[in-house]
Amino acid sequence: MKTHAHVVGWGKYVPGRVLTNDDLSRMVDTSDEWIRTRTGIRERHVAEDGETTASTAIQAARQALEVAGLRPAQLDLIVVATVTPDYLFPAAACLVQDALGATRAAAFDLSAGCSGFIYGLSIAAHLVCAGVYRTVLVIGAETLSRITDWTDRDTCVLFGDGAGAVVLQAGEDEGGVLATVLGADGSGGDLLRLPAGGSRNPASHQTVAEGLHFIQMKGREVFRFAVRTMPAATQQVLEMAGLSLADLNLLIPHQANQRIIEAAARALDLSPEVVYSNVERYGNTSAASIPIALSEAAEEGRIQPGDLVVCVGFGAGLTWGAAAIRWTRPQPAPAPRWRRFLRGLRYNLAAFRSWLLRLWRRLTVLWTRDDGSGVPVRDDGRRGEGRP
Ligand code: ACO
Repeated sequence: MKTHAHVVGWGKYVPGRVLTNDDLSRMVDTSDEWIRTRTGIRERHVAEDGETTASTAIQAARQALEVAGLRPAQLDLIVVATVTPDYLFPAAACLVQDALGATRAAAFDLSAGCSGFIYGLSIAAHLVCAGVYRTVLVIGAETLSRITDWTDRDTCVLFGDGAGAVVLQAGEDEGGVLATVLGADGSGGDLLRLPAGGSRNPASHQTVAEGLHFIQMKGREVFRFAVRTMPAATQQVLEMAGLSLADLNLLIPHQANQRIIEAAARALDLSPEVVYSNVERYGNTSAASIPIALSEAAEEGRIQPGDLVVCVGFGAGLTWGAAAIRWTRPQPAPAPRWRRFLRGLRYNLAAFRSWLLRLWRRLTVLWTRDDGSGVPVRDDGRRGEGRP
């Protein structure tokens, strides 16, 4: 019997700190009117000190597991799509794995700009359908505020921070992720990039002085690319699923600019009710934008079991992607307080487990000596440390 990858959990998190257009107009030469008419954005959420991509991802993941009614130990794989990981390595996905206590899960990050979540969803769905994994957590998470030049009005008005997550699970019933389309055109890589901090321009006083650790973007070219790509990818993924625009209940486009969303809707001849938008409240949260919108739409009851949803995105790379999903789960009632308390306890235990493992590693270094063979020898003469 064929295995399908169902979306069984969803969640989102945005930082509490809100930056309005008026706030920005006191920082750079811009206005609420310009930002609203050119982008549709009114406000965005910005990470507080101490918040990071992984910490926002963990919050969204906890909510998605809650909706799915699953324990972290049931996860087989965690994928975090991001262009703003906490570190180049270790992966943000490993930080999430540790904090959740997802002891059985493999974990990795992927970088595909704002299309990252669709890339992650596509990989995860294929792994589930192939029988490799049963339960996969896919997260899109960003703290773009950390790579934004807050003196550059061309870019700083556009971006926001946040995270969204879904849990995919294998099932024999029809539905779930029906088809995905992914694409890339590296010739447009220079349209949207972070020039420094990688192997081409490692961090130096000069790169910092030249502001090369901030987002650089050629907005008009990206705009044109987006308006061309999103309708084409939507049509293509529907065709692959053997469906048409007439079957569509909700289009969830990448939330970069209301004008791009409206142009894509016009090109597809879709009425505004069929197209989800929350760019007004969050700005462009890159890889987090689609899963935040998806979770919010499900929470608002805009998506019901049986509905056909298409998520479509574009972004740095250049990349694009679309996913057609037959929704199969209703939004569950909020869990009772005692269950939320128990879940909270589980995450405290995960933190304690992580602390113990770190302590154990430190102690085993103290207990063992190296005899030159590369294999640690314990003080009692036995080789090996007992655990990796
Ligand atoms: N406030 C006031 N004026 C501004 C601002 C601002 N914040 N920013 C630019 N302007 C000015 C420009 O200097 C320009 O002035 P000029 O005519 O005197 O030269 C004028 O406004 C028009 O600028 P344009 O760039 O032509 O404005 P446009 O209508 O194209 O809108 C925007 C710019 C909003 C950036 C648009 O091009 C866009 O949304 N592009 C797509 C960006 C995008 O989606 N990026 C995300 C990619 S996803 C990822 O992977 C992160």
